[in-house]
Amino acid sequence: MIFHQIPVGPMQNFVYLIGDENTKEAAVVDAGWEVDKLIEISNKENLKIKKIILTHSHFDHIQKTNKLAEATNSTVYCHELDFDEIKKTINTDSIKAATLKNNDEIKIGNIKIKIIHTPGHTPGAICLIVEKKLLTGDTLFVNAIGRTDLAGGDSIKLFESLQKLKKLDDHIEIYPGHNYGEIPFSTIGNEKKNNPYFKCESKEQFLNLLGLF
Ligand SMILES: [Fe+2]
Repeated sequence: MIFHQIPVGPMQNFVYLIGDENTKEAAVVDAGWEVDKLIEISNKENLKIKKIILTHSHFDHIQKTNKLAEATNSTVYCHELDFDEIKKTINTDSIKAATLKNNDEIKIGNIKIKIIHTPGHTPGAICLIVEKKLLTGDTLFVNAIGRTDLAGGDSIKLFESLQKLKKLDDHIEIYPGHNYGEIPFSTIGNEKKNNPYFKCESKEQFLNLLGLF
């Protein structure tokens, strides 16, 4: 698998390029900024971007989706619960778009990407599992978590989503949607040890830490 974590834009976003080295098919995860940079890296790797997967509806993750989709003739995927919100920022009339549910699978060549619905930051926020990597969007950051005080945010749902992620193997690597930590990526095991929000065992403890209880 070809995998790039690419820092883009003025808000410390990461976008991801995932490619099958055999078929040369690729997917981009989030498309908030710097489409030219993504296409340049993809060209260098001899990849053909076919799919764009959006982790959630916030503009800093999606605002360049039309530009990237039109340049590559890609299909855009997002969770069904964020689709209406996403349509406020991107125009889906001129591009191919499809919605996702929990446990759906997207294939990039011979690589399988599994979708985990992790509401909380937004209603249709998703994480993606590809091989030993978990792309967490704005659900889980290195040593932090996504905000729940924006439109559609829900702290209890985020707590429940984090419990789902805690069940994954400690060796799974975490690749977040922003570079907010001291290091750009981590593991489930490290976050269980170090991330104060991810460590919380009860809703009460979690809400207390967020100052909501
Ligand atoms: Fe966000």
